[in-house]
Amino acid sequence: MNDTISPHGGKLVNRILEGEKRQEAQKKAENLKSIKVSPRIVSDIELIAVGALSPIEGFMGKEDYDSVVGDMRLSNGLPWTIPVTLPVSVEVADEIEEGQEISILDQKGNLIAMLNLEERFFYDKESEAKNVYRTTDSAHPGVSVLNSQGDVLLGGEINLVNRPTDVEFPNYRLEPAQTREIFKKKGWRRVVAFQTRNPIHRAHEYLQKCALEMVDGLLIHPIVGETKSDDIPAHLRIRCYEELLENYYPEDRSLLSVLPAAMRYAGPREAIFHAIVRKNYGCTHFIVGRDHAGVGNYYGTYDAHKIFDEFSSEEIEITPLFFDHAFYCKRCNGMATKKTCACPPENHVHLSGTKVREMLKNKQQLPKEFTRPEVAKILMEAYSN
Ligand code: ADX
Repeated sequence: MNDTISPHGGKLVNRILEGEKRQEAQKKAENLKSIKVSPRIVSDIELIAVGALSPIEGFMGKEDYDSVVGDMRLSNGLPWTIPVTLPVSVEVADEIEEGQEISILDQKGNLIAMLNLEERFFYDKESEAKNVYRTTDSAHPGVSVLNSQGDVLLGGEINLVNRPTDVEFPNYRLEPAQTREIFKKKGWRRVVAFQTRNPIHRAHEYLQKCALEMVDGLLIHPIVGETKSDDIPAHLRIRCYEELLENYYPEDRSLLSVLPAAMRYAGPREAIFHAIVRKNYGCTHFIVGRDHAGVGNYYGTYDAHKIFDEFSSEEIEITPLFFDHAFYCKRCNGMATKKTCACPPENHVHLSGTKVREMLKNKQQLPKEFTRPEVAKILMEAYSN
């Protein structure tokens, strides 16, 4: 077993301008055409710049875009399942030209990055929806974002000038180079990553701890970029984690850090994407449970497991750890899955995310078999306010 896992494509991308180069860019930007982008794009820029999306160095051009949408690979053949794109309106695209450098600003007008515009191209939203999200239903949150975005994609490499300002959880925003360094210092050779967008519950903890039995360290890596409006906000999720980490996790084997990415809700394709991103952060294993990154009924419960069969383990490299649907069994008196418990289903306590949100809104107590009382308390207090 190698001491470290290589980033996807072999090299950790770094597109952060520093020192003189950064100052020059800042000056130059004053005289360049600029475009304002959404927080979702700002987070993609940050992820590209710090190497979280290695080997991607910018927004996809047409060749990569078509290849990713159609074949789940970059044009060089490397697995990649989610398009990383910079959509703009036709009006904006008409004002700029290939070969130009363009400054990218956040919604407040702060300079974030420079784009070397290589390509402008129209794209087929329906085909992207069908391939990436497996549906064209506009009720799907990923499809809804896709339908509302501009009709032209800008492709080209980016350089980060300023990291986004006013970010949440600055202390938990470890970049791939930093997590890799921490794993090394801690002597963790095998590290499992846990992706999440929900408040921690018993099934999450069960998956994490089963996985931790097999490896040296656990990276709890909640997504804190844009999520759909009814998902529980990141600051509450982080508070729940802080509470549980302090009381129920071994300090020398667990690390909490956030991933400033937007959720796509692309289910199976996003599972591959999530795994590759965590490989870039230096993790060797990745937890994939039931309906990973799913929403509504768009994906089969284990589609996110099956999709890994479409790639060889050499090309994905990070090892997926698949888990069945986990629940608390009142008869066994503990957490289990169908693989380990044959009791009648009426003994099994499980709640969907929708049901949890409904109970919180109705001020109903969340059962202790579903989530630890400390977590229930934080969530119930927040919802009663
Ligand atoms: S997700 O969108 O990030 O997948 P969530 O935060 O709920 O949503 O899930 C985080 C991880 O835990 C995913 O891998 C998911 O498949 C898994 N998971 C969540 N609940 C369960 C459960 N009851 N049984 C098995 N796996 C689960």
